[in-house]
Amino acid sequence: MKSVNPIKRGYLALEEWFNISFGPEWNPLYHLGTLTFFFFWVVLVSGIYLFIFFDTSLSGAYNSVEYLTHDQWYFGGVMRSLHRYASDAAVATIILHMFREFALDRYRGFRWFSWLTGVPTLWFVITLGITGYWLVWDELGLYVAVLSSQLMDALPIVQGSMASNFLEGHLTDRFFTLMGFLHLLGQPVLLIFALWIHVKRLSHVEVSAPRGLAIGSFLALLALSFIWPAVSHAPADLHKVPAVLNLDWFYLNIYPVLDYLTAGETWVLTIGITTLLMIMPWLPPKKTGAAAVVHLDECNGCGQCAVDCPFDAISVRTRTDGARWEYEVVVEDKLCAACGICVGSCHSSNPFRSSTKVLETGIDMPQFPIDDVRTRTRTALDALQGNTKIIVFGCDHAFDVAELQDPNVAVLSFLCTGMLPPTLVEYALKNGADGVFITGCRNGDCYYRYGNIWMDKRFNEGRKPVLRERVDRSRIAVFRGAVTDGKEIRDQLEIFTNQIARLKEDATISSSREIENA
Ligand code: HEM
Repeated sequence: MKSVNPIKRGYLALEEWFNISFGPEWNPLYHLGTLTFFFFWVVLVSGIYLFIFFDTSLSGAYNSVEYLTHDQWYFGGVMRSLHRYASDAAVATIILHMFREFALDRYRGFRWFSWLTGVPTLWFVITLGITGYWLVWDELGLYVAVLSSQLMDALPIVQGSMASNFLEGHLTDRFFTLMGFLHLLGQPVLLIFALWIHVKRLSHVEVSAPRGLAIGSFLALLALSFIWPAVSHAPADLHKVPAVLNLDWFYLNIYPVLDYLTAGETWVLTIGITTLLMIMPWLPPKKTGAAAVVHLDECNGCGQCAVDCPFDAISVRTRTDGARWEYEVVVEDKLCAACGICVGSCHSSNPFRSSTKVLETGIDMPQFPIDDVRTRTRTALDALQGNTKIIVFGCDHAFDVAELQDPNVAVLSFLCTGMLPPTLVEYALKNGADGVFITGCRNGDCYYRYGNIWMDKRFNEGRKPVLRERVDRSRIAVFRGAVTDGKEIRDQLEIFTNQIARLKEDATISSSREIENA
């Protein structure tokens, strides 16, 4: 039995609970990245509206925000609240997104790049929020300004020149306009660039949240905006210490630390946490399996594997071996996640081919070549006894299918079920299996991002290579579950086995009737 650490077990239980409430398609925990993008859209649109009315001068900023909040509460006020709550929601989803990658161990090995480049985006978002609070120029804005200046002053390049602006009361419009520029243009552009890098090593990146989830989240933000509108504190007064400040803990959590630590110590703490987060993929490092290998003799350069690769590791280039095909594919080893999805994409991964020779395909995994897949399927099928013979195809990252093996049930685990060529299902049914049961990571949550999706599309939606029409679908079942979903998988396997037994019985009865009638 695979061991599962308590963090992963707890997190999977939480996701399952959300699956029951929302269904896998709308499970927010499966869409944390796209939800963050959605909240950014809300922030952008509401921000543009606020900017139309915002006065970027020191003397006019506060009143312009007050006008929106009170005089135009029905629209401007709502926009202000949406701007604030969508920003808070974005931090919440980013932190959850980060925690999810950690809890499910999806941050090491080939994923190091996405993790490493994710960490700075978190700080870009937080500093963007900080300049936003500054711009309101109320008591909270002043608090943020004074403490941020103290922090900046502790840096060797600034050396004590910023905070004096506040202490001596010479704050200029120019400085305030600089904050406006940073918040409205500089920081957003930097964030977009950082996000582009963040997803650069992934293909088919989804940036749009499912419609239902986006509408639901927007309605929740809107309701919050009406029930609890965002308001300002009293106007900033350089000569007054505010009695009560309502901090936004999503963005302003660093400032209370300054009550206990000096600015220098706060920097050491912040840089320490950031560095620790950034080096996490190597604590300890995780080995990625051997990269896919192209066999040009079997490759016609169709490029399906390059299209299907979730990590952009395969590209198509002009043929180099003089064969009659125009193109060939090439694998960039350092980007390959060793998922084997490309093997499932290759039409040459067909076990019916060259039955007496070693089976070679256009692109293969050295650690589990397609010829081994065929041999092991054959051996497993030959060993089956009993009346209802089932073969289970599973995934190394989901429930351990070895636990299902018995005299009636053969098992074979793949690097990912996206590696499973549809022709292998047909092959198993033709070579002794009464039924094929496929399991793998939960729907909507493939460890390698697209294995489940491509498999379903190959089976049902004509994605190449297809599972042929003539294959009897009633003899195939797909039920997915995480490593902790053993009970559900066993139950479904039992239901499927009984269903196959009944099908066989019906077939026997009708063939004996045919014989009698003849
Ligand atoms: C502004 C904040 C962020 C946004 C909008 C964002 C968005 C995304 C998106 C859209 C993906 C691709 C998901 C997919 O299509 O499978 C992704 C992947 C990823 N993100 Fe982020 N992310 C953010 C911050 C972070 C942070 C702070 C971390 C962790 C430090 C992080 C870690 C990762 C990792 C490890 C992946 C790779 C997932 C995979 O390979 O399956 N992200 N992110």
